[in-house]
Amino acid sequence: METSPPKPAIFFDRDGTLVEDRGHLRSPSDVVFFRDTLPALQRLKGRYLLFIVTHQSGIGLGLLSPEQVEAVNQHVVDALAQAGVTFSGVYTCPHTREQGCQCIKPNPHFLLKAAAEFNLDLSRCFVLGDHPHDVEMGRNVGAQGIFLLTGHGQKHLGELVERPGVMVARNLDEAVTSILREDLQRDQIPQAAEIVRQGGIVAFPTETVYGLGADAFSPLAVARIFEVKKRPFFDPLIVHIASQDDLKKLAKDVPPKAKRLMDRFWPGPLTLVLLKREDVPDLVTAGLPTVAIRVPNHPMALKLIETAQCPIAAPSANLFGHLSPTTAEHVREQLGDHVDFILDGGPCRVGVESTILSFMGETPRLLRPGGLALEEIESLIGPVGMGSGTDDRPLSPGMLPRHYAPRTPIVIDQNGKLLQAYSNKKVGWLAFREPARSHPFHHIEILSKKGDLREAAANLFAAIRRLDGLHLDLILVDSIPEVGLGRAIMDRLRRASQEEI
Ligand code: TXA
Ligand code: MG
Repeated sequence: METSPPKPAIFFDRDGTLVEDRGHLRSPSDVVFFRDTLPALQRLKGRYLLFIVTHQSGIGLGLLSPEQVEAVNQHVVDALAQAGVTFSGVYTCPHTREQGCQCIKPNPHFLLKAAAEFNLDLSRCFVLGDHPHDVEMGRNVGAQGIFLLTGHGQKHLGELVERPGVMVARNLDEAVTSILREDLQRDQIPQAAEIVRQGGIVAFPTETVYGLGADAFSPLAVARIFEVKKRPFFDPLIVHIASQDDLKKLAKDVPPKAKRLMDRFWPGPLTLVLLKREDVPDLVTAGLPTVAIRVPNHPMALKLIETAQCPIAAPSANLFGHLSPTTAEHVREQLGDHVDFILDGGPCRVGVESTILSFMGETPRLLRPGGLALEEIESLIGPVGMGSGTDDRPLSPGMLPRHYAPRTPIVIDQNGKLLQAYSNKKVGWLAFREPARSHPFHHIEILSKKGDLREAAANLFAAIRRLDGLHLDLILVDSIPEVGLGRAIMDRLRRASQEEI
């Protein structure tokens, strides 16, 4: 008997994902598709089996009849089928949370059922929805979750905080773009991993910024990273691993507080500095007795490390002293032909580098503020000391005072009064939030319309890069509240700027 290989599939939540969430939908006439639902699904062109997994507690509450839900489901499937998009099944959980069923999200009951019936490869499946339960359900079976900001997505975004393995998309179209990109890149990961194994250097996406990676145990390969980046040898690299299992290859000893942080925040934007094992090459650690380690929260990075079967030493994939790249395009612009391979994972979700914490002293010390807020760390392990290291062999040389250098002078405008002083100049403005009034600037980049620090961090480097490309005399920057990710943003802005007034 011929057996076909397991297939990939996509599971969609119904309300807020495929159709607008308008409370209980009782009849086909209540159904309103999002504008991009059909064109987005058509882009998938038969590459995936498609399913709907919907939670209709209205049935359990007696507010909806199973027949009404069935009619709505059928209408959704038929309407899309008419346009050439075929669904293989619709699964409905009719229960309320109190009824304690096995099919309620985030239980992956229906995913397992579909996998058995349709011979699915769950590790190549995606689950899309506007509620954290949708992506959690996917993660529970090793599938990839994509959280949509349509429907209730905006409202629930906060509940997703640094949850591992989750992509966020503004709408279905953006989610499909991510899926297709991963599809394409998935085939390239074995090739990239082979290059790493052979001693080559590969640029790859992480959730923070793009990294330039090599086998951490190959000093020759690591030397090429320094050469390509024009990075001084006194500046040690972060070693990336796929899970805590790889720690024993690198670190001698893991203090209890470090362990708690790993359990909670890995994979994620947190780098821990621990006492190193002797066989970790000195070039990686710049001769220090310590090594910096993290598990990146990006499916392609994790897959690359797993496939290469070695820890990957990687600084950010930029020339030394320049802005860290947050897209594959930025890497191409800066390093282009000098790297052996560039994996494209789209824009980085966090946008600033990881937070670095040292465990070498009595109390843990913050060496670099970054993508994980200090408040989150302190709420788990108590007070953290502040590191400093601005001598010529800094504790964490990313802490060099002027490290992220665009060509255009950047000035931080503490009190918003600077513009007059520069009235005869071509000035660009890097604004934290949407300005209330009209403005006289040549160009403005808004980091986050709503003034959201997370969104601002994600946009930071790309926005500076765009302003820097405009041949301005000056870039004025708002000062940003130094809480949460605002600390990392202001840290990078100070390093990029000449003066703060
Ligand atoms: O988010 C990130 O951390 C990104 C991605 C690619 O993972 N990586 C990154 O690497 O920002 P890089 O090389 O640009 O910055 C690494 C920082 C440097 O400031 C370095 O000095 C510090 O980590 N570092 C590395 N090993 C260290 C050690 N043993 N002790 C103290 N600091 C260390
Ligand atoms: Mg860097």
